[in-house]
Amino acid sequence: MASTAERHVPVVLDLWQFRAQDLGEMLEEETAAWREELHWDFRPSAQLVRRFVDAHALNGYVLVIDDQVAGYSYYVCEEHKGLVGDLYVRKKFRTAGNERKLLGAVVDHLIGARYVKRIESQLVLSRSLDSGPLPGASFARPYPRYFMEIDAAVGAKLPARALEEVVLDQWTERWQDETAHLIASAYRGHVDSEINDQYRSASGARRFLYNIVQHPGCGTFYEPAACVAVIENTGKLCGASLTSMVAEDSGHVTQICVAPATKGQGVGYELLRRSLGALAVAGAKTVSLTVTAANQDAVRLYQRVGFSIERQFSAFVWEGF
Ligand SMILES: CC(C)(COP(=O)(O)OP(=O)(O)OC[C@H]1O[C@@H](n2cnc3c(N)ncnc32)[C@H](O)[C@@H]1OP(=O)(O)O)[C@@H](O)C(=O)NCCC(=O)NCCS
Repeated sequence: MASTAERHVPVVLDLWQFRAQDLGEMLEEETAAWREELHWDFRPSAQLVRRFVDAHALNGYVLVIDDQVAGYSYYVCEEHKGLVGDLYVRKKFRTAGNERKLLGAVVDHLIGARYVKRIESQLVLSRSLDSGPLPGASFARPYPRYFMEIDAAVGAKLPARALEEVVLDQWTERWQDETAHLIASAYRGHVDSEINDQYRSASGARRFLYNIVQHPGCGTFYEPAACVAVIENTGKLCGASLTSMVAEDSGHVTQICVAPATKGQGVGYELLRRSLGALAVAGAKTVSLTVTAANQDAVRLYQRVGFSIERQFSAFVWEGF
């Protein structure tokens, strides 16, 4: 018979060995955590995980303790990049050691895969990863980030500001290509393009846009609250805010940026004000966004309009292995 110590030893197993029903209780707990802590409906994502697990189409690992599923993590690869898609350890098993063990299995695997040159992760719910040594520490860089939230009713009542030579309109798909170019120019030399390498080029930004418009990872894209700012004389795009509904009563700003030459004139404020108003009309009671702590211009703007920091977490990038 196994000793007490042996019984509690966590084991990491390949996700392929599991069926969706094995992960059922854990995914239900995770869904409740997203709802309580982030006002986010995780059910569509959990459903995708179940479907892909049963199709043996998801790569990752499961942490097993005392014959119970204690947690899981999965990753996806896009060309040279590995993305840690999710990592969740159940509350009763949640320790920094268990979270790191699971992340370590993913990171060690990806570092060992010859085609992977870079790994990115943004695990909003995993707090214990922020302290202590990370897996693959010599290749890792942490970027502190904030999850911020505003009462949508407050956002909907913000006073309008007059803009000079810039008009706002609703974003539609016809702006997709110009928005990709705008993102690449707004994030040139910006800390967020160290965290997400898709921001470094128009082609990368196109993939980023495709993901937020088509996939449910960042909620359901909500076009009526997405806005463009356009230079009146030329019709050229100089700012954009993109939005999604992450629950029936909760919105999210997935992207906001202003062209370098137009910054500091109130365009970011107006985009945000208009998006918040439209999200409130759509039924949002709260609106959230994430921002890098070092991005002080943006943090100041958000705090000025009434967002508050609800959580701190870290984005991680592993490179140079
Ligand atoms: C963050 C960002 C969207 C803000 O947009 P912006 O148009 O520059 O923001 P605003 O002009 O509305 O507000 C910024 C500052 O200009 C000031 N301002 C606003 N209207 C003004 C006006 N009419 N005249 C002079 N100054 C004005 C504001 O007071 C604010 O100053 P403060 O930060 O000292 O309080 C923009 O800087 C950007 O695109 N950054 C790069 C991408 C990015 O970081 N996006 C956010 C990721 S989470």
